[in-house]
Amino acid sequence: MNAIENFNLKSNLAIITGGAGLLGRKHIEALLEADADVIVFDINDKALEEVKEYCLDKYKKEILILNVNITKENELEKAKEVIFDKYNKYPDILINNAAIDPKFEKNSKVNKSRFENFELNQWNLEISVGLTGAMLCSKTFGYEMAKNNKGVILNIASDLGVIAPDQRLYKQDGLSDEEQNVKPVTYSVIKHGLIGLTKYIATYWADKGVRCNAFAPGGVFNNHPDDFLEKVTNLIPMKRMANIDEYKSSILFLCSDASSYMNGATLNMDGGRSVW
Ligand SMILES: NC(=O)c1ccc[n+]([C@@H]2O[C@H](COP(=O)([O-])OP(=O)(O)OC[C@H]3O[C@@H](n4cnc5c(N)ncnc54)[C@H](O)[C@@H]3O)[C@@H](O)[C@H]2O)c1
Repeated sequence: MNAIENFNLKSNLAIITGGAGLLGRKHIEALLEADADVIVFDINDKALEEVKEYCLDKYKKEILILNVNITKENELEKAKEVIFDKYNKYPDILINNAAIDPKFEKNSKVNKSRFENFELNQWNLEISVGLTGAMLCSKTFGYEMAKNNKGVILNIASDLGVIAPDQRLYKQDGLSDEEQNVKPVTYSVIKHGLIGLTKYIATYWADKGVRCNAFAPGGVFNNHPDDFLEKVTNLIPMKRMANIDEYKSSILFLCSDASSYMNGATLNMDGGRSVW
């Protein structure tokens, strides 16, 4: 096989969870550019419609958008039926990408992002999407892949799945320690947990033709304020955040036969932040 041909995803069917979000759209582009058929699960109807339009416009290709809450097993089972009815097969690629980007009330005397104030319902909510949702999708669709002896599961972790957050990044002048925002504990736990889930699945179905890897990207530049940008780039040997398009080739590598002997691994791509 020619090395470039290994990246081709023709006749592959892929699900991307949270695919209507910022990076999910880029994962869709990567797979469409390699000729895969793409299904997107998300709970944001407006964003789902937008991404469908965008793909039709840019790639002249129809994607299947489904409003599926990945925390609900019955919705996943229903989606599985819809997919089989449409394609007469189950997906052979799953990208577990969905996550909740939590918003904490600003200017509150009790900062709920802080560990000492972190509420159990917030913990449960975020874990249910970022970690439980990935487990449920892997269980539902990975089992079909195992029965079919072919599949790839890719878990989107983060550089913060490998290192701890540096809370100094989020410090704001003029606020007491108790008022300072922090990166929530859930983020670390979910992203480290996804790497654990990756290793579990990678060994569980290794003899069934299913590979599972994790991707650990650093932060993508998205018009961050200058003071944050300065602080974060000081922690990155390459002195910059990622560009939005910079992860597409890695996603394609990890989802295709280009990575056919890679299993249970975590690919770090963070400008070197996690090695400093
Ligand atoms: N953006 C970054 O800089 C960055 C860096 C490292 C890792 N990541 C990770 O990459 C992934 C994508 O990040 P993003 O910036 O595109 O986030 P995003 O918030 O833009 O997208 C997440 C998507 O998940 C969807 N979602 C939320 N709950 C859901 C549910 N219950 N069921 C189905 N879909 C649901 C949301 O509607 C949203 O469209 C996340 O796992 C994130 O942690 C992002």
